Amino acid sequence: MIAPHGGTLINRIVEGKERDALLENAPALPRIELDAWAISDVEMIGIGGFSPLEGFMTKADYESVVNTRRLANGLVWTIPVTLAVDEATAGRLKAKHDVSLTSHGSVVAVLHLEELYTPDKQAEAEGVLKTTDAAHPGVARLRAVGPVYLGGRLSVVNRPKATTFLQYRLDPTQTRRIFSERGWKRVVAFQTRNPIHRAHEYIQKCALEICDGMLLHPIVGETKGDDVPAAVRMKSYEALLAGYYPKDRVVLAVNPASMRYGGPREAIFHALIRKNYGCTHFIVGRDHAGVGKFYGTYDAQKIFDDFSPEEIGIAPLCFENTAYCTVCGSMVSSKTCPHPPEQHVSLSGTKVRELLQASTPPPPEVSRPEVASVLIEAMRQPAAK
Ligand code: ADX
Repeated sequence: MIAPHGGTLINRIVEGKERDALLENAPALPRIELDAWAISDVEMIGIGGFSPLEGFMTKADYESVVNTRRLANGLVWTIPVTLAVDEATAGRLKAKHDVSLTSHGSVVAVLHLEELYTPDKQAEAEGVLKTTDAAHPGVARLRAVGPVYLGGRLSVVNRPKATTFLQYRLDPTQTRRIFSERGWKRVVAFQTRNPIHRAHEYIQKCALEICDGMLLHPIVGETKGDDVPAAVRMKSYEALLAGYYPKDRVVLAVNPASMRYGGPREAIFHALIRKNYGCTHFIVGRDHAGVGKFYGTYDAQKIFDDFSPEEIGIAPLCFENTAYCTVCGSMVSSKTCPHPPEQHVSLSGTKVRELLQASTPPPPEVSRPEVASVLIEAMRQPAAK
């Protein structure tokens, strides 16, 4: 089984006497109410999805990640994981003292506050997201959150209670156990925040030809407002898997993390997370984790060349832009097809949305009819989203 990033699968979910003691003290601590994004970070840290992180980054790690794409100890890490608060809240807190982190007023975790620091958000946006344009959802979020970051280890005392996708909530320890029980040695992970169209299916199946199994691992944390809601996507994955994939080759599980839209840096982050879940290979297609025109089509693939395969540990499987070719009669990319783009059936996301809104299924070369039906149904009943 592949080792987690940094060598140890972190578990910051405390139990027994340690938990009892923390819970007893919690009412006396200053409280911070978390938003959905921070809750998803707390959960990912707690269950080891972000191993080796044991909490929110302190200044040394944060600056090192922004400037060098490594933690202060040299381990590759490309995305800051931080907890931002406003000045008034920061004024109530003291370094080296515990803070109670709450969700809807109930304590979720205790933050062992190591330090408070003021980030250079401009430098963070430029370094991590490669832009300071507020049209980028990551930049917009950076601007919206408070100006002070809190760093320190976490003890999760009441794991946030999931109310959705319960049968698909698998922690890294659980996916690792499943892979090992199934005897899978080469496990490919697929990150997605979209319904699975034919291009996605094709690259997954190319990967499945050379791997033992696949972890289909859609993000269900925060995504931007115009992305298809997770509940609808999950239905579309179920429909697709039922009709077109061998049952015993795919594990569908949700990834509680939030989308950063950080393109290349997020591709490395996504890969390291899947390594923690026990995967050996990771699919990186065109404009992975991109948004708008902020990144080059293959930047998220090129970034893997900046690191040695050993320090990443999980192997990227890179795919060109794929589409259905009417001459070849199959899914293709420029690596496998000599025909001009006019022969390729490919629609923009906007065009697909327009068709679905008009209750017209996109062509079967773009989307399986079962997936199109789920999406059309969801558009007809927006309240059911
Ligand atoms: S992402 O933000 O999670 O990357 P999406 O869910 O659309 O967005 O993509 C999931 C994966 O499929 C990514 O690795 C992406 O690069 C890849 N991908 C999406 N569409 C294509 C395509 N037409 N050709 C090749 N790869 C693709």
